[in-house]
Amino acid sequence: MKISARGESIQDSPIRKLSPVAIKTKEAGKKVYHLNIGQPDIPTPPEFFEAIRSYSEKVLSYGPSDGINELKDAMINYFKRYDIDLMRENLTITYGGSEAVSFAFNIIGDPGDEIIIPEPFYTNYNGYATMSDLKIVPVPTMAETGFHLPDISEIEKKITSRTKAILICSPNNPTGTVFSEEEIRSLGEVAKKHDLFLIADEVYKEFTYDGIRHFSVLEIDELRENVIVVDSISKRYSSCGARIGAMITRNKDVMVSVLKFAQARLCPPTLEQLGAAATYKLPHSYFEDIKKEYQLRRDTLYEVLTANKDIVLRKPEGAFYLMAKLPVDDSDDFAKWMLESFDVDGETVMVAPGGGFYSAEGERTDEIRIAYVLDSSKLKIAGKIILEAIREYNKKS
Ligand SMILES: Cc1ncc(COP(=O)(O)O)c(C=O)c1O
Repeated sequence: MKISARGESIQDSPIRKLSPVAIKTKEAGKKVYHLNIGQPDIPTPPEFFEAIRSYSEKVLSYGPSDGINELKDAMINYFKRYDIDLMRENLTITYGGSEAVSFAFNIIGDPGDEIIIPEPFYTNYNGYATMSDLKIVPVPTMAETGFHLPDISEIEKKITSRTKAILICSPNNPTGTVFSEEEIRSLGEVAKKHDLFLIADEVYKEFTYDGIRHFSVLEIDELRENVIVVDSISKRYSSCGARIGAMITRNKDVMVSVLKFAQARLCPPTLEQLGAAATYKLPHSYFEDIKKEYQLRRDTLYEVLTANKDIVLRKPEGAFYLMAKLPVDDSDDFAKWMLESFDVDGETVMVAPGGGFYSAEGERTDEIRIAYVLDSSKLKIAGKIILEAIREYNKKS
């Protein structure tokens, strides 16, 4: 029997594909610093677990397909802090932000339709585009300019009769770039002019540094019909395993459609929604220390890595990632080699090769993505190991 072309062609995760190598490395007795995956080490708020523990119903039954009102209301209050007015009918609770991406991709276009995405981009958009038979049309952004958008005319040039949407992720995974209000507004104008959806992945909304403010597409009133936001508690409240996210839109047709998609998978998990509702009720000051911590980590890693002047890296403005252009030819090979054949005093580092964050294979084979999800003292060591590895790797090749 033969599986589908889709089943054959879907990409494997560049974030996880070196995991078997890392397992062997650890079995061989080496310590591996995991900077490959965006799994924060910040403790999940205890309120999340307490809400689940105090569940007292006798039967854990199906809930509403679009999520429970307790969570929706808590989210509505949370968005009020940003002067963003939402109603229950603008929210669909999903299995993580991932399902919101999947629903959005399925709703905005038919097989063969196109979605424009600045690249590098969150690698799983590739997988979801394959599942929905959408074609990703990339807009290149460069390490040298901090991965900010090119002139808007470069983006407009990519629009064809099959273009259905533009997707922007800010703060960005993998680059850490926070797109400015001006950049977002100009994308919005293009979306409006060409009658396109503007999908915004805002799962890192809170994590911006140096006083930079995240500008949400939900703040643009003229785009009420165009905007679909992908949201999640995975990173916001360090609860990746809860699998709670949301799709947010004021577009009624999209809401009618998404409810049917949601019904097809019955409902999101009830207990985790209750946990999420409890975290959304935390005061906004909850984020202050976490932001400080991430900013410290970013500064530490940035300082260590930029000691090598051949690394191209602008200081990331948000999220907890950076994409660095290294003086190596093949970052896939380099990342594997670091695990298999390199260590400093029995310690090495796992990073994500940058190629998987592009739509086409063989792009930018000199970039790596680092997730700064370990504390600063560990990051300092890991950063130095990477620098030493670059020196050794280039000696050998
Ligand atoms: C940009 C971005 N969007 C969406 C997701 C999906 O997150 P989740 O499904 O855990 O909510 C992630 C996870 O890393 C991400 O980085």
